[in-house]
Amino acid sequence: MNIADAVANRRAVRAYLDKPVDPALLRRVIEAAQMAPSGYNFQPWEGVVVTGEKLRELSGLLLEAKPQDPSEYQLVPRGLPEFYKDRRDGIVARRMEAAGFERGDKAGMAAMQARNFEFFGAPAAMFTFVPRIMGLPQWSDVGMWLQTVMLLLVGERLGCCPQESLFVHGKLIKQFLGISDETHVFFCGMAIGHPDPDAPLNTFERTRAPTAEAVRFIGDS
Ligand SMILES: Cc1cc2nc3c(=O)[nH]c(=O)nc-3n(C[C@H](O)[C@H](O)[C@H](O)COP(=O)(O)O)c2cc1C
Repeated sequence: MNIADAVANRRAVRAYLDKPVDPALLRRVIEAAQMAPSGYNFQPWEGVVVTGEKLRELSGLLLEAKPQDPSEYQLVPRGLPEFYKDRRDGIVARRMEAAGFERGDKAGMAAMQARNFEFFGAPAAMFTFVPRIMGLPQWSDVGMWLQTVMLLLVGERLGCCPQESLFVHGKLIKQFLGISDETHVFFCGMAIGHPDPDAPLNTFERTRAPTAEAVRFIGDS
């Protein structure tokens, strides 16, 4: 698959086939992603890949647990301008519709959240942590690494969904995986598996703002 196709075909996959991921393939993808760029070559990302019984055990704990207080981090910025709220409300509405829930259905919202804790039925997941000492530039490096992992997964015809909603249980996840809360922030999970090609959750139309709202071109064009 060429890079443009991988970028176009990547989407947040929220329904998976009941089929394991080849562990050797997963390892190859993670190894290839080590070539992701980072400022000063710090490579500030840290991940743990979990599969099988261990993942099911963690899922059970996440489903039972109460959200931690205080939160791992501020997920949604305070004082968000309206256009950002519109983008967020748009994806929430499309997901609700694809999952078969009415708009504003609170129980439906909770069920959708719970699917995150079940990794949408994916057989594998990766959890990403950032050393607390790292700042804004290094958080961006972690994002580049995650995107590198995602595109490589797409190149292998696998699907994934990054999951920051797991941040409500960051401490639990760290404890489960033997990661120090003192030294590390939990950033996100990532469900990984074979996408269910027919699931409405994997086929609804995705939208983006016009490029001109994001990037200007100056000079020769
Ligand atoms: C860092 C990050 C965290 C995300 N967390 C979640 C999540 O917890 N649950 C979820 O269903 N989708 C999550 N998403 C997926 C976004 O909703 C999705 O990327 C966005 O709506 C654009 O859609 P697309 O990825 O399908 O193109 C996350 C995406 C990113 C990049």
